[in-house]
Amino acid sequence: MTQRVHSVLLLPGDGVGVEVVRETVKVLERTADLFGFSLSFTRAPVGGEAIDQTGEPLPAETLQAARDADAVLLGAVGGPKWDDLSTDRRPEAALLGLRESLGLFANLRPAILFEELAHASTIREEVIRGIDIMVVRELNRGIYFGTPRGISGEAGRRVGINTLSYSEAEIERIARIAFQIARTRKGKVTSVDKANVLESMALWREVVVRIGGDYPDIELEHMYVDNCAMQLIRRPGEFDTILTTNLFGDILSDEAAMLTGSIGMLPSASLGGVMGDGVMFGMYEPVHGSAPDIAGTDVANPIATILSSAMMLEYSLGEEAAARAIERAVRDAVREGLRTADIATRGESIAGTSKMGDEIARRISNT
Ligand code: IPM
Ligand code: MG
Repeated sequence: MTQRVHSVLLLPGDGVGVEVVRETVKVLERTADLFGFSLSFTRAPVGGEAIDQTGEPLPAETLQAARDADAVLLGAVGGPKWDDLSTDRRPEAALLGLRESLGLFANLRPAILFEELAHASTIREEVIRGIDIMVVRELNRGIYFGTPRGISGEAGRRVGINTLSYSEAEIERIARIAFQIARTRKGKVTSVDKANVLESMALWREVVVRIGGDYPDIELEHMYVDNCAMQLIRRPGEFDTILTTNLFGDILSDEAAMLTGSIGMLPSASLGGVMGDGVMFGMYEPVHGSAPDIAGTDVANPIATILSSAMMLEYSLGEEAAARAIERAVRDAVREGLRTADIATRGESIAGTSKMGDEIARRISNT
């Protein structure tokens, strides 16, 4: 039997991105050994690093390398050094460019609570106990990309415009992803819109209802976004899969992340293509940023990126058993008391970035 080989483009980027990707590669290599596949890694510059080398946040070679790979693992971009650049020249522009150019229309942001860390949440423990939410955010359309857009007119009378639009096809493809994800979870989709005020959102609801007809095994409910923001902190345990637009998803995924109290633990996936029995191309990254204040000091928590790599194994590389093994190893490490500074409470001993990576890699097992 020939060994399965998957190609992964590493985009470590800036700040702590470099360290957390390095630890994740350790974990991935150990996992591949145990599960009988191999990974071929390439590396390219992105964000501030790319600006320094080429003058651009997303060089054409980097984009091409992403297209040539089975999946992309990104660390983080940005830092004070590049803060004075205009919006389209900044490191963050690379993120929006990758999402758009690679057609990554589905953003998956799980908010999982590690029971051992429940005390770190700003919400009472009995409210957040057991939460396990997956936000499925549309990432390629909506008000982020709609036209017309811009600021025009004479000084003092200028008008700023952005456009919220969704076509039926654009709603349908993200809705199908949410229903399929829900099938692998608790089987419930909450579609979040503002159908009581916005026509684009009335169409959203209509299409989601129609697509829901193809998934009779999934429970579908609808919620206005303002109510959802409230219910997320009132009874978060009742959510399973949240399906929503680009802008609402940006906001609600931060809210859901904060419920868990530990942003250093949360992974994400951005997917394009059609999901069926096969796999989808995707880009995987931690929810946290480049944290320039602690970069290079062996302090950052690599868990968010390590868990992102588990999502990569599951959704883009078809290595589900290996994905579960990484998640188990992370849980075991946390359960056994390993803590980076961000998740340690007073008095607990603290592991550095690289120690945490080693300890998780050591706990990977195929049994
Ligand atoms: C996110 C971020 C981005 C977004 C920014 C950095 C462009 O907030 O990934 O949630 O708004 O999508
Ligand atoms: Mg955001």
